[in-house]
Amino acid sequence: MSQLGTLEELPVEYRQALTDINLGPLWPSLRSLVPFNKPERQTQPTLWRYQDIRPLLLQAGELTPIEKAERRVLMLCNPGLGLENAMATPSIYLGMQLILPGEVAPNHRHSPSAIRFVVEGEGGFTTVEGEKLPMERGDLILTPSGLWHEHGHGGSGPVVWLDALDLPVVYRMEASYSIEGPPAKDNNAPDASQTMYRRAGLMPYRMLGEARGKYPLLRYPWQEVRQSLNDLSSGAGPGDMLHLAYVNPHTGEESLPIMGFSALMLRPGEEISMPRRSASAVLHGIEGRGQATIDDEALNWEEHDTIAVPTHAKLRIRNASSKSPAFLFIVDDAPMQRKLGYYEEFAN
Ligand SMILES: [Fe+2]
Repeated sequence: MSQLGTLEELPVEYRQALTDINLGPLWPSLRSLVPFNKPERQTQPTLWRYQDIRPLLLQAGELTPIEKAERRVLMLCNPGLGLENAMATPSIYLGMQLILPGEVAPNHRHSPSAIRFVVEGEGGFTTVEGEKLPMERGDLILTPSGLWHEHGHGGSGPVVWLDALDLPVVYRMEASYSIEGPPAKDNNAPDASQTMYRRAGLMPYRMLGEARGKYPLLRYPWQEVRQSLNDLSSGAGPGDMLHLAYVNPHTGEESLPIMGFSALMLRPGEEISMPRRSASAVLHGIEGRGQATIDDEALNWEEHDTIAVPTHAKLRIRNASSKSPAFLFIVDDAPMQRKLGYYEEFAN
């Protein structure tokens, strides 16, 4: 590896002449822009404990009425990326959102895509383009780019969910904006996860002749995902990874263009090594407790805790219970990286 010239080695007058007409020399920055072998990463492996977040989120419910917040959210900010930058990883924004009985987070749409992963509470719902999606614990709800969505709460007690958005990407492309709309009208029909896409491998016949929908399924009920992981485990070999992707049932591809979603089951006492990947990721505990070791840093997680995983990190995940399975929800930016042509997996 040859040593490249530095900025300081250049005459001051020459540097000023470049600056004056908006130019810069590449060679002093070349090694940091395109380092050898592995990217430079500011993202830190970070654990956000739900037991720490919850009391502060409930306090936000007392301090700030929904009208003053629109979305009552505490953002999960990666300290390596700057707490002011609203980034859990370079591509993923995370927030923990609270809605109280009778409150409405008003109808709007925006260029970033979002998802909700329900943490606790009953009676919450999201209406997307008129489709009313019940929000039960562990459900994944999509609110893709450009679709109208409103949140409400018809039950009792607080409802909390994890928001994940591709906001860091869209914001840095200078393409992030939102539009407010009139209150949502729901179509008074069960959502598509209960009717049209109730079973894998089946869809309404008329869809065969129609253009494939971009977002035909907006809700992935946890009870269905959990059952599918259990069924997968009964047919799998002892070392097979129990890992299911949430996909678009029309195309079999990832359900959103930038962020990807999957659910992982760990057998009692199991420890697995995930392939090292170019994607950044977020892990969220659904059930059980365990340990995630990211490069050399071990983080102990419990239900509803959330962990940021940098790009290119080694990742091992362990179920701390020898009696019960553990379940994790995973968000990553692999769909974006695949589209951009630089997604990679490496042998551990
Ligand atoms: Fe939104």
